[in-house]
Amino acid sequence: MLLMAKCSLVSWTLALSTSSVLAHPLFNGRLVSRADELLEEYDYVIVGGGASGLTVANRLSEQPSTTVLVIEAGQFDQNEEFVTIPGLAGGAVSTKYDWNTTYAASEYLGGRNISISQGKIVGGSTKLNRMVFDRGSKSDYDGWETLGNERWDWESLLPYFKKNEIFSPPVDEIREEYNITWDDDAHGYDGYMHSTYSPYIWPTTKNLVEATSSLNIPIPKDQANGNAIGGYFTPHNMDPIDYRRSSADEAYYDTAATRENFHLIADHQATRILTCANSTLKATGFATSSNATIQSVKAKREVVVAAGSLHTPQLLQVSGIGDPALLSSIDIPTVVDLPAVGQSLHDHVYVMVANSVNTTITLASELTSNATFAAEARAQYDTEKRGPLTSPSGDFLLFLPLSIYTNTSASIHAAALASNASLSLPSDAPTEVAAGYAASYHSLNSKLLANDSAFLEVIWADGVLFLGLQHPYSRGSVKAPSSSIFDAPIADAGFLRNPLDTVLLREAVRFARRLVAQPSIAELNPFEVVPGANVTSDADIDQYIKNSASTLWHPAGSCKIGKRDEGGVVDGELKVYGIEGLRVVDASVFPILPASHIMTTVYAVAERAADIIKGVGGAIEMS
Ligand SMILES: Cc1cc2nc3c(=O)[nH]c(=O)nc-3n(C[C@H](O)[C@H](O)[C@H](O)COP(=O)(O)OP(=O)(O)OC[C@H]3O[C@@H](n4cnc5c(N)ncnc54)[C@H](O)[C@@H]3O)c2cc1C
Ligand SMILES: *[C@@H]1O[C@H](CO)[C@@H](O)[C@H](O)[C@H]1NC(C)=O
Ligand SMILES: *[C@@H]1O[C@H](CO)[C@@H](O)[C@H](O)[C@H]1NC(C)=O
Ligand SMILES: *[C@@H]1O[C@H](CO)[C@@H](O)[C@H](O)[C@H]1NC(C)=O
Ligand SMILES: *[C@@H]1O[C@H](CO)[C@@H](O)[C@H](O)[C@H]1NC(C)=O
Ligand SMILES: *[C@@H]1O[C@H](CO)[C@@H](O)[C@H](O)[C@H]1NC(C)=O
Ligand SMILES: *[C@@H]1O[C@H](CO)[C@@H](O)[C@H](O)[C@H]1NC(C)=O
Ligand SMILES: *[C@@H]1O[C@H](CO)[C@@H](O)[C@H](O)[C@H]1NC(C)=O
Ligand SMILES: *[C@@H]1O[C@H](CO)[C@@H](O)[C@H](O)[C@H]1NC(C)=O
Ligand SMILES: *[C@@H]1O[C@H](CO)[C@@H](O)[C@H](O)[C@H]1NC(C)=O
Ligand SMILES: *[C@@H]1O[C@H](CO)[C@@H](O)[C@H](O)[C@H]1NC(C)=O
Ligand SMILES: *[C@@H]1O[C@H](CO)[C@@H](O)[C@H](O)[C@H]1NC(C)=O
Repeated sequence: MLLMAKCSLVSWTLALSTSSVLAHPLFNGRLVSRADELLEEYDYVIVGGGASGLTVANRLSEQPSTTVLVIEAGQFDQNEEFVTIPGLAGGAVSTKYDWNTTYAASEYLGGRNISISQGKIVGGSTKLNRMVFDRGSKSDYDGWETLGNERWDWESLLPYFKKNEIFSPPVDEIREEYNITWDDDAHGYDGYMHSTYSPYIWPTTKNLVEATSSLNIPIPKDQANGNAIGGYFTPHNMDPIDYRRSSADEAYYDTAATRENFHLIADHQATRILTCANSTLKATGFATSSNATIQSVKAKREVVVAAGSLHTPQLLQVSGIGDPALLSSIDIPTVVDLPAVGQSLHDHVYVMVANSVNTTITLASELTSNATFAAEARAQYDTEKRGPLTSPSGDFLLFLPLSIYTNTSASIHAAALASNASLSLPSDAPTEVAAGYAASYHSLNSKLLANDSAFLEVIWADGVLFLGLQHPYSRGSVKAPSSSIFDAPIADAGFLRNPLDTVLLREAVRFARRLVAQPSIAELNPFEVVPGANVTSDADIDQYIKNSASTLWHPAGSCKIGKRDEGGVVDGELKVYGIEGLRVVDASVFPILPASHIMTTVYAVAERAADIIKGVGGAIEMS
């Protein structure tokens, strides 16, 4: 195999291949677009130029003597409006900037498969996402430590949430209109990602805020200070002057791109991390297509895999790091026997309750149904940087502990205690994964009764409610289908595998109806279109959930931090077990999802990882 002859070299090597068609202009001294312009070796080679990869690359290349290469499968965007304008956020889904991955068909979903977008673009999923820029609660991160991950807790991560951020308060008009409050101390001001509140909020948001209050649900001062419980106004990742999306590209690539020690090659996909025995030589290959020539590049110190929760485990597997049974089935010799690679995958599963409304209040649907309105909104955005297109929507979100959204929390808790953790796991889950999951199960059970941990997110859009399960019990896996990285990974988020998840969503559907019945929403004349007011029994609601549940695009956990005999793939310093010089830094390392959208947590983990790699600040002493 490629490069095996170089086994005596004490270095990492990445192999890459390139096609003759290059999407980007030639090497300009910093951006490398042709494989033959790469240096022969770099100190660090980072696979994946998304949220985490660009963060780590930026921080490591702060030292001029440290050379860094990022290999990114996707291209640079061309500042398309659907990428830059907040009101068009999400428009890059299902374009060439999307891997178009799909969760495998599942019996728990009535045989459905579910598409799961992932960014294939410089900036990764931060170019596709809906721009909710929030954090989980203190308890979410403290729970990481409870699972056995020393110093992975709120207090250790908070400085890194701040390090990522350049926070700006809301503009006066919107602050006054909506009484938005915030906690100065919780935010960062010297980071790279802009965050601020929309200067325009779709007006039925007020009806939601009032309904929240009339149900006595708290509205915290700020979601960012560890108390993200109740209904809160959320910032978005956007520039407070021109209200354009702030992504990992603008934040962490543009600000480092003039450094001579920092190269990025786009449109090349890492095909393999080449290894020699269990250490010494590590290498990845990258290519634009399966038939292109594979070339290689060495890493003197480390390879950092930051390819996202679905592609990172696949890359490890095709490189021989994973479950020997899986690897032999795809003709890959085992380099490290690490069955947990790809396991423990989970994601925020949601169902929708959709009401039509009948009101004279302006609705977001006018952007698509009323050309005059759309043209005015566009003109206002272009000339004043105000108006509907400054909002990606989702400006006020609910994050609710179980006891706030249902009176049945005690009986759900009793049912969970009486049930069997193995119901959450695929039948072929390796022993160490099952052993580690026992601790997660215990932790989830205690969250059922906790008031400082949210189980449900409610996203509102003019009568349509998206109900997202924040702490799902179910787990799935990612498996390479073949030895080729160009074949899409087989990913199963495990949605609804454990029936407890259906029960938790069933109560969410009932809560949505109570919320909609509040006077401030009732005045919008809501009519429940989906699932329909006649869907009320447990069985009928459950059937609806099975037939409609989908993803909020937060896959995580597939290379989680943890002890090796408890299903961990990386240790507390994010080093892959059983091999030297290889780390994983992306959403796949989360031991368990926080109750929030997850981009800020990805950034905080990546900021911290950079310090760990540099051996400063956030370094963790591992016993
Ligand atoms: C449609 C959508 C909406 C979302 N909405 C929100 C939101 O509103 N708020 C929020 O907080 N989060 C949101 N998220 C989630 C958030 O964007 C992601 O969790 C985050 O970007 C993950 O960071 P990452 O570094 O793990 O992966 P990514 O940012 O996805 O980066 C991974 C990168 O690796 C590259 N890559 C993969 N394989 C290879 C390979 N073999 N070789 C080279 N490169 C490779 C990919 O092309 C990609 O650029 C959303 C995500 C999506 C898809
Ligand atoms: C994703 O699907 C869209 C629409 O079919 C397509 O144009 C795009 O090329 C696909 N993305 C990739 C990476 O293949
Ligand atoms: C997903 O399911 C649809 C409908 O059954 C099918 O047409 C499609 O091929 C499936 N996609 C994948 C990737 O399995
Ligand atoms: C803001 O506060 C004022 C005064 O307490 C109140 O009348 C108004 O309804 C509040 N607005 C919102 C959106 O909650
Ligand atoms: C390489 O593969 C791609 C996609 O599989 C195909 O479109 C292209 O024609 C192939 N090129 C050559 C030179 O075979
Ligand atoms: C909406 O409300 C108006 C005024 O009450 C009424 O005339 C109209 O019939 C309603 N439309 C629908 C679709 O219910
Ligand atoms: C369309 O938008 C314009 C401008 O806001 C508004 O005047 C008009 O009433 C709208 N038309 C409809 C049918 O709502
Ligand atoms: C719980 O029960 C009380 C008393 O019957 C009722 O007022 C309240 O609305 C219920 N709450 C939920 C979340 O069901
Ligand atoms: C849980 O389920 C597993 C697998 O089905 C079984 O082996 C085990 O005995 C069960 N444990 C309990 C306490 O029921
Ligand atoms: C959570 O809040 C409920 C209602 O206020 C209360 O009854 C319960 O004791 C609280 N639980 C914990 C663990 O504090
Ligand atoms: C609810 O009503 C709709 C429309 O009449 C019908 O198609 C559906 O089967 C009903 N569902 C249930 C659970 O009764
Ligand atoms: C590498 O393999 C050798 C020999 O099998 C073993 O002694 C050593 O502990 C391994 N290193 C790691 C990091 O697992």
